[in-house]
Amino acid sequence: MITVLEESKFMVAREFLSQKDAQWIGEDFRKFCKKNKIKSNDDDVPNSQSVAGYYTFIEQLCLNVNRVTHYVEEIVLPTYAYGRNYFKGSSLSPHVDRDSCEISISVHLGGNEDWTIWMKPNETTRVPIELFPGDAIIYIGNEIVHYREEYKGEYYTQMFLHYVRSRGPHANHYFDNVMREESLCKKLGVEKPKRSKKLDPLSYDMKGVPR
Ligand SMILES: [Fe+2]
Repeated sequence: MITVLEESKFMVAREFLSQKDAQWIGEDFRKFCKKNKIKSNDDDVPNSQSVAGYYTFIEQLCLNVNRVTHYVEEIVLPTYAYGRNYFKGSSLSPHVDRDSCEISISVHLGGNEDWTIWMKPNETTRVPIELFPGDAIIYIGNEIVHYREEYKGEYYTQMFLHYVRSRGPHANHYFDNVMREESLCKKLGVEKPKRSKKLDPLSYDMKGVPR
């Protein structure tokens, strides 16, 4: 069965975070980056500040496993969390993400101007997405081309949560390869266990998840 996400390669989740949470998490993150004079870690986005593993984002990465499982319709495992502040003149050239970003979630944590993110599901189509604080776009990060044109405002903050499907082709990126079943089995001198059956994600507690 092809899921909604597989078919369109992206979907918008309005109010993924409440506006209130988006606001305080964004403010805290901007203060943290300012205080610590954080610079960009990636060459593809100059004029920005980015941090991997910021604790509040790790909390969100873990808190949302069930909910993302619901959206993806397959069990997902976390890979990593990341955050970025963009500034006037920032842009994001068209790209796809690495395989650890198979399921990417970009959550808007506030800015002082709107800023379109473009999704390009194929050569001839591009779709503009506008996010309000707390809204998220969920996309197949390692497949869909995405980009942003030049930002005209002063600041704009995004939190990125990344997952892989637990039985998908990139499953071995779980926890961003910090721990791997292969190396554990090798260490223990045992064979890697066979996976004979898929778990049913909907048999787990999904209370509070929009259906
Ligand atoms: Fe990206």
